[in-house]
Amino acid sequence: MERLLVIGASGLLGNKLIQLGKDRFEMSGTYKEHAIKSGGMHFLDVSDMRSALKVIDKVKPDCVIDTHALSNLDYCEAHPEEAWRVNVEGSKNVAEACKKQGSKYIFISTDDVFDGKKLRYTEKDKPNPVNYYGKTKLIMEYALSALDMNYIVARTAVLYGTGGLGKSSFATWLIQRLRSKEKVRIVTDQRNNPTLTDNLAEFLFKLYEKDESGLFHITGKESMSRYDFSKEIARAFGLDASLITPITTPELNQIAPRPGNVNLVSEKAERATGLRTLTVREGLSIFKKQVA
Ligand SMILES: NC(=O)c1ccc[n+]([C@@H]2O[C@H](COP(=O)([O-])OP(=O)(O)OC[C@H]3O[C@@H](n4cnc5c(N)ncnc54)[C@H](OP(=O)(O)O)[C@@H]3O)[C@@H](O)[C@H]2O)c1
Repeated sequence: MERLLVIGASGLLGNKLIQLGKDRFEMSGTYKEHAIKSGGMHFLDVSDMRSALKVIDKVKPDCVIDTHALSNLDYCEAHPEEAWRVNVEGSKNVAEACKKQGSKYIFISTDDVFDGKKLRYTEKDKPNPVNYYGKTKLIMEYALSALDMNYIVARTAVLYGTGGLGKSSFATWLIQRLRSKEKVRIVTDQRNNPTLTDNLAEFLFKLYEKDESGLFHITGKESMSRYDFSKEIARAFGLDASLITPITTPELNQIAPRPGNVNLVSEKAERATGLRTLTVREGLSIFKKQVA
């Protein structure tokens, strides 16, 4: 069985990869703040190159899927040095350790590398991040292409799904608010492709199995506003959508600029894998069955 190491196994995507991968790979993972007390799990702070080398040398993975990041846009904007240390230096540490070990490296990037000025984005479109988080991810993409190693960059967006010990996803947060009958204000002018972590995980496994490399967009099929996504969540979970009030981005006073409308096209990944990205309704119907 091939050995896969997930960096950030305590996170939303990382945890899903561990759950879904265990029937076809020998899975192990890392955590930082949120300890996972089961076999094959290792503490790792990616900012420390020696620790990254040590874990990868111990596990000797065929492939590393690196899901770690500081992914809160406003936090990254307000703490650029920390964001650089974790998202750029930390990712480079893991990638270089993979190169030394001869492991394939899969890096999870974001739709925030784009400025939202085009209607749809393929892998051929030129990135132009408008916030610091997007910049750190793009710089790591460029760093990887200079490392001369076997890698995949997977750009994704608005993850939702079950699992993860740290922060909850937007969808989980919304469900909790609506279940408690709380009113929420959601923006109508930020559009991206909500992506079920299960669907993304299947694509990542398949790209690895097919020995693909390079850049791929992997998101849900449709781009929709956060407000419309919220309405879909309320509908799927039988919750009261009238608690959701539409607002626009300036009313939120967010620190980090948002790209506005981003629609990633995942056709290259679909062709390479033979898999299909999910619509929001398909994704939410799977998610609903998993949520208690
Ligand atoms: N969530 C989204 O909507 C979204 C959209 C586009 C792209 N992405 C990208 O997709 C990936 C997965 O996102 P996610 O939402 O699953 O992330 P997440 O739930 O926030 O999990 C992040 C993981 O990274 C680990 N981590 C953080 N700092 C670390 C460090 N210094 N050293 C080692 N590990 C560290 C965390 O460990 P502990 O919790 O144990 O500290 C956690 O396991 C990220 O690369 C993110 O940038 C996410």
